[in-house]
Order: sequence, then C-alpha cells, then structure tokens
Amino acid sequence: MDGQQIGRSSRVLVAGATGYLGSRIVARLKSRGYWVRVLVRRPEQAAALAVADDIFVAQVTEPESLAGICDGVGTLYSTLGITRQRDGVGYRQVDYGGNVALLREAERSGVQRFAYVSVLHGPELRSRVRLAAAKEEFVDELRASPIPSTVIRPTAYFSDMAAFLDMARKGTVFVIGDGSRQMNPVSGEDLAVACVEGVESGAGELEVGGPDVLSHNDIVHLAFDTACRKPRMLRIPTWAAAGIGGALARTTPERVYGPVQFFLSVMTRDMVAPAHGTDHLGKFFAGRPAS
Ligand SMILES: NC(=O)c1ccc[n+]([C@@H]2O[C@H](COP(=O)([O-])OP(=O)(O)OC[C@H]3O[C@@H](n4cnc5c(N)ncnc54)[C@H](OP(=O)(O)O)[C@@H]3O)[C@@H](O)[C@H]2O)c1
Repeated sequence: MDGQQIGRSSRVLVAGATGYLGSRIVARLKSRGYWVRVLVRRPEQAAALAVADDIFVAQVTEPESLAGICDGVGTLYSTLGITRQRDGVGYRQVDYGGNVALLREAERSGVQRFAYVSVLHGPELRSRVRLAAAKEEFVDELRASPIPSTVIRPTAYFSDMAAFLDMARKGTVFVIGDGSRQMNPVSGEDLAVACVEGVESGAGELEVGGPDVLSHNDIVHLAFDTACRKPRMLRIPTWAAAGIGGALARTTPERVYGPVQFFLSVMTRDMVAPAHGTDHLGKFFAGRPAS
C-alpha cells in the first residue's frame, strides 16, 4: 500500500449520518480516530454533527449533486434509507436509487470498501416486502461492483421498540398473534460497534442482534413494567393482520402501506440474529422520557 492509500483507509464517509444508527456510527468512528465526512441534505443538519470533520450537502435523489463526495475516502458506510415516510419519495428512489448513486461515486473515486445496512432476512422478505426488495436490489448492485463490500443485516433497533413503551404508557399495547415470536433487538451503540468491527475485519456479510432474545410478550411486559401500568394487550390474530396488510397494499400508496407491510412481516416471524453487545432493552426503556 502506498502512503496515499494508507491515509485514505482512515478517511470515511457516512451516508445516513443524521439518523439513529448513522449518528452512532459517526461517534464510534471518531472514537477510533477516523477522519469522517458526513452526507446531509440540509445545511442546518450540520449542527447536530459537529463531531464530523467534513460536511457534504447533497441530495441522493439528484445524483449529479453527489459529484466528488467520495474523493479521498477509503470506506463508505451507508445507513441511508426511508424509515418514516415523509418526503414524497419511495424506497425505489432512496433505498435503491440513492445508494446506487453513492456506489457509482464510490467506484469513480476508488473507494476501498462499501458497507451497507440492509435488514435481517432481507433475501427472504424481498419477494413480498417493498422495503426489503429495494434494499436487496441494491445489495445485488453492490455485489456486482468491483468494490469489496460489507452487508450488515440487523434485527430491530431499540429505537423502534420504543413504540411498545409509548403504547404501554397510553394503557394498551397491540400484539400480533399470541406474542410468542422472538427477536433480539439491538441498541444503536452496540450495532455501530459491530458495523465498524465488521468493516475493519473485512467481513462480507454480518447478521447482528442484541444480547437478549425476547418474545413479543416479554417486550410488552417490560414496557408495562417501565410504565408502571397493569398490562393490557389487544391481540390481533395473524390472519387478520395479514388481511389488513393485503388490503392496504391494494388500496393505499407505498408511503402508507410500505411501513405497515414491513412491520407486519417482521412481527409475524422470529427475528433473531447472532448476539452482539451488552445493552439491554430494559435500561433503554427506563431512560426514555415520556413523549
Ligand atoms: N429501525 C430498525 O429497526 C431497522 C432494522 C433493520 C434495518 N434498518 C435499516 O437501517 C437503516 C438505518 O435505520 P435508522 O433507524 O438509523 O434510520 P433513520 O434514523 O430514519 O435514518 C435514516 C437516514 O436516511 C436519510 N434519508 C431518509 N430519507 C431520505 C431522503 N429522501 N433523502 C435523503 N436522505 C434520506 C435520513 O436523512 P434525514 O435525517 O435528512 O431524514 C437519515 O440520515 C435504514 O436503512 C433502515 O431501513 C432499520
């Protein structure tokens, strides 16, 4: 490796840096001594990323605005994707198209590794879940690229488990099926550590869950314990949930049915991945202020 390549390997770009996971990857990289550039779409988002060394303002849906974003960068981490629909663009434009635009820039600039966050069981979910389809189509592009890649497939994040706590605080939690399905949700901090370790070790693919395997019933009881309320659950039969999902897919636009379809598909199967980290959901719940 020549001097330029050695310097380059310590320089990183994070796309999705304003989000739950991306911001924690930035913090982890900084604590490990990396030089970090972040992509934001609005200049005012820079204030929340003061720890970054360089801010690049661009729109992933306008590929020409990304010109030069990877110059001098050794590794690109992308957590870019739609989790809350609010911009009027779809998974195809952002989770697929936005990441393809970044990949083309990475190829042009000679990036040494592209790390991408998809979802656990993405290859199985892609045939029936629009979000998983867009993500896995991007994984196909990534695998076809000459750039070495790390594909990270996490379970649910603690940030999403907060919905159970919010419902418990209001008095009733909806549960799909009998609540016996299991998952091992992971904190953003533990997942960020796993992502950076995976990239540094050159892993091609990495499934990541948290340290505790919990049934949906366990999570609901934890939420009610934290809320200091008597458990009250409204159980939706799996067949009824599937019916609601199917009806929404036929009658509503992607921005409505897309998140519901993803939620239903992960709540009607086990989502357990190899355990990483030490953070427990109970502590996360206890530290979450009431909304
Ligand atoms: N949450 C989970 O349980 C879970 C589980 C498995 C996989 N994942 C995947 O992990 C990734 C990160 O999740 P997260 O919870 O960190 O998501 P998040 O907090 O919603 O962050 C998403 C990032 O993508 C950016 N983004 C979204 N729409 C955009 C658009 N139209 N144009 C430009 N940027 C856009 C956001 O930018 P702004 O801040 O500007 O909106 C943000 O930086 C996602 O791809 C998600 O699908 C999530």
